[in-house]
Amino acid sequence: MAEELSIASGTKQERYAVLIPQIKSLVASENDLTANMANVAAALKQTFGFFWVGFYLVKEDQLVLGPFQGPVACTRISRGKGVCGTAWNEGRTIIVPDVDKFPGHIACNSASRSEIVVPIIGSGGIVGVLDVDSDSLDDFDHTDALGLAEIVGLVWS
Ligand code: SME
Repeated sequence: MAEELSIASGTKQERYAVLIPQIKSLVASENDLTANMANVAAALKQTFGFFWVGFYLVKEDQLVLGPFQGPVACTRISRGKGVCGTAWNEGRTIIVPDVDKFPGHIACNSASRSEIVVPIIGSGGIVGVLDVDSDSLDDFDHTDALGLAEIVGLVWS
């Protein structure tokens, strides 16, 4: 596909509906995971203007920073630590409306106010997480959980 993204205006749901087919065609023409993660991070940042979008990948007993868009971030997160390590440990999507109220939240950047973390299921279990941060409180909901899970599923299908 042409390396240009169409961005819908309108509701969050409408923007995911326009974004997802484009990600589908982006990843269909490329089988390199790093390239696909990089483009997914860029496409999400371009579409929604999120503060930070990125991947952490399971390497031995830690999550290690992968492709991302946004300010520099923590490079390693232990299992069970922070929102990312908890999503990995519990194998579920976690939405945090106010990061200051999440016990053990890891503040890579003090501007981050709310967060969603979606686990990535590979062939042998959880292979990483997609982490999205917003500089507004309460920026994520069920629409994001569904949209991001679908996007992650496209990259790892
Ligand atoms: N806040 C995350 C750490 C990663 S950064 O937000 C990029 C956490 O608590 O796991």
